[in-house]
Amino acid sequence: MTTVLDVQRFKDEGRRFAMLTAYDYLTAQILEEAGIPILLVGDSLGMVVLGYPTTLPVTLDEMVHHAKAVARGSRQALLVGDLPFMSYHESVEQAIRSAGRFLHEAGMHAVKLEGGGRIIEYTSRLASLGIPVMGHLGLTPQFVHQMGGFKVQGRGDAQAERILDDAKALEQAGAFSLVLEGVPSELAGRVTKTLRIPTIGIGAGGQTDGQVLVIHDLLGMTTGKAPRFVKRYANLAETIAKAAETYADEVAKGVFPGPEHTYSANGVTKMPIAREEVKYGAG
Ligand code: KIV
Repeated sequence: MTTVLDVQRFKDEGRRFAMLTAYDYLTAQILEEAGIPILLVGDSLGMVVLGYPTTLPVTLDEMVHHAKAVARGSRQALLVGDLPFMSYHESVEQAIRSAGRFLHEAGMHAVKLEGGGRIIEYTSRLASLGIPVMGHLGLTPQFVHQMGGFKVQGRGDAQAERILDDAKALEQAGAFSLVLEGVPSELAGRVTKTLRIPTIGIGAGGQTDGQVLVIHDLLGMTTGKAPRFVKRYANLAETIAKAAETYADEVAKGVFPGPEHTYSANGVTKMPIAREEVKYGAG
């Protein structure tokens, strides 16, 4: 199983690594079989799966529900639960309770928190309790209203210095890794060279130790134009639409179901694929 020590080793040995988001059992299983070492149950769940306009409405209960499903599909990956908005904002005690649910109830191995400032103290407390913390700086979606939208961060000198200082403080506080989102590549490179712990970039160029993408972006299971930092490795939205259209058309024409998909009373018609052969759950 991938552990936080392995992730550090990846950096120490100069091995670049991939992280992907996962929100359900089957996706976790497929990604794990594909050898993805870290799965993040991101609060992007709110936007890509639940249809919220931002990540702010996502609740801890929703996150825990999906995290449990991911844990059921995974044996080898390091599983990181993303603490959603208002699940750690009130106090360090609330952060401990919420992070504890991810490890205790949902089978996660680590948590992610957005931001610097007070999060540094939270990181230190969580790490001291044996709860590994992944930091997250730069474009932090839970700060969308303060940032005035989803905008690249750290372009000016002052902002860049603040991100670098927060990164150093998070490492000092015991974070085992750091997501850098939506920052200039040069800044991501500077942070990566300065830190001992691995950095994981999204929209942060190619100089970080690891990369992360939202699985729906990677699969092209989104509508509209992809942002610049996204590479679509498949176009599943189109594939799904085409399959659904073909199915509806065949139903309308009476082509589906054909004899090969039909049971007969005398048992002469064979079912080539019985339902029992399809694996649906973890049992
Ligand atoms: O919620 C999420 O998916 C994330 C990644 C984009 C890093 O935080």
